[in-house]
Amino acid sequence: MSKQQSLDKIKDDIIAKNICPELAASSTQLVFGDGNIDSEIVFIGEAPGKNEDLQGLPFVGAAGKFLNEMLEGIGLKRQDVYITNIVKYRPPNNRDPLPDEKQAFLPFLRAQLEVIKPKLVATLGRHSMDCLLPGLQISKVHGQPKRYKGQVYLPLFHPAAALYNGSMRQTLIDDFAKIPRILAQIK
Ligand code: URA
Repeated sequence: MSKQQSLDKIKDDIIAKNICPELAASSTQLVFGDGNIDSEIVFIGEAPGKNEDLQGLPFVGAAGKFLNEMLEGIGLKRQDVYITNIVKYRPPNNRDPLPDEKQAFLPFLRAQLEVIKPKLVATLGRHSMDCLLPGLQISKVHGQPKRYKGQVYLPLFHPAAALYNGSMRQTLIDDFAKIPRILAQIK
């Protein structure tokens, strides 16, 4: 099976296994992931918002525009990287994803990463960090690569949180600037 076929199967499984049926019913569609499935880096956000739900793609609203700008700042285009979320359906009124919802989608996120096999997994925000790197405080560890169970992670602030907060915005931009060097150092 090709990488693309394996990813398509994970997506079909989410639907066949009726994961989070209430979220599935209240949202427009599943937002699985987007970008280069051979990328060395995968970005993981929280859950789709309104624009993502309508377009079926992650990070296409204001936070996505900011993410694209930061990628360009380090010489990458959005199409060069792979972007997804922990939770694959939009929570009603953009509420935070519930612990059960994050747990329900986690095996599928892990399966996605297993197929793509990136060198670096960049978590965007607290929710995505907590799922993959438990027990850390984002305010303390943002911008620091962490190796956990054989995978290197880079915890980052969430672009939507940083967008309108001047100091967090600059911190996120500075953390992003470290990505090329971190990637080059991963064996
Ligand atoms: N915020 C997220 O966490 N994910 C998206 O896809 C969009 C905004």
